Amino acid sequence: MKIAVNTGGGDAPGLNAVIRAVVHAATARGWEVYGVRQGYNGFFQPGGVHPLTTEMVRGITALGGTILGTVNKGSLFDATESDLTDRIVRRFYELGFNAFIAIGGDGSFRIAQRFIAQGVPMVCVPKTIDNDVNNTHVTFGFNTAVATATDALDKLHSTAEAHQRVFCVELMGRNCGWIALHAGLAATADVILIPEITFNIERVAEKIRARYRAGRNFAICVVAEGARPEGGEPSLLGPQETGREVRLGGMAEKVARAIEERCGVETRSLVLGHLQRGGHPTAEDRVLALRYGAAAVRGVEEGKFGQFVSYQPPSMVFRPLADAIATTKHVPLNCDEIRAARELGICLGD
Ligand code: F6P
Repeated sequence: MKIAVNTGGGDAPGLNAVIRAVVHAATARGWEVYGVRQGYNGFFQPGGVHPLTTEMVRGITALGGTILGTVNKGSLFDATESDLTDRIVRRFYELGFNAFIAIGGDGSFRIAQRFIAQGVPMVCVPKTIDNDVNNTHVTFGFNTAVATATDALDKLHSTAEAHQRVFCVELMGRNCGWIALHAGLAATADVILIPEITFNIERVAEKIRARYRAGRNFAICVVAEGARPEGGEPSLLGPQETGREVRLGGMAEKVARAIEERCGVETRSLVLGHLQRGGHPTAEDRVLALRYGAAAVRGVEEGKFGQFVSYQPPSMVFRPLADAIATTKHVPLNCDEIRAARELGICLGD
């Protein structure tokens, strides 16, 4: 067996742990493993497809980023899509591969579907800090992103209190509020605004006023980057590029200005941004990523092609790739985290 592995889409802490697990589990079976660099670009670059040995993945479990590099804009796919798919499929077979393990998010999975439709024996591993992939309990990278965001919110608490300020902190997550909800709960935020619940700014302002009336002269508001006001739209960041996902950003600053205007208290905003994608994966994410990687190799062995590794605690199982991208895994409005947040008096903007 000769298998290829690549990483696509935005990076997530734990990608290297998946790669290491794939290399070890495959090598132990007597298979050869090759890494394809920069998504699928490596197929057309000198040295872009290279062997991966256990030596080469030594010590990478704890490293953020991905040793294979990644792309999250469709440079390659700007070409006529069907031509390009054909070229990649041809290269895959010319190089003598028997199977492909693609580690990616929803965008990468949509691309993978084109290869699967052409019969490429592919097993996919879901990856994203956003935790928005459908039909899998949790993706690696999410726990690290929540830990990083929680740490940042904890630090802001002390300075907010010292200066009697309100801080609005924008967290990633695209159109889902998982990171914001979990980090906001963990750091005991006063307000958590997520895309799944449109917010009424007057409710938010009332929560801040109530805190100040009670003598708590500071507040922390967590604003998911995809949050939006009732009847309004999410905030977009600068000029958008064609061929890539919409870039969200700026809602925390908008909420901060509205709070300052309504409540007359100094309000600052901060965008945590890509810090949430960087750094060492937490122990939990390392274990999860290693399990996803080992399971992917098991999937190849068992011929689970066209499927993705789905975490259904306590097991790793295989589901058709279409199930992962059929819908986005939004925060359910009746979930226990939302219920608990309300019971703790956290304002969710509604
Ligand atoms: O999907 C992961 C993610 O970090 C989102 O939370 C965020 O909206 C997006 O990627 C940012 O992407 P980029 O790095 O291309 O700006």
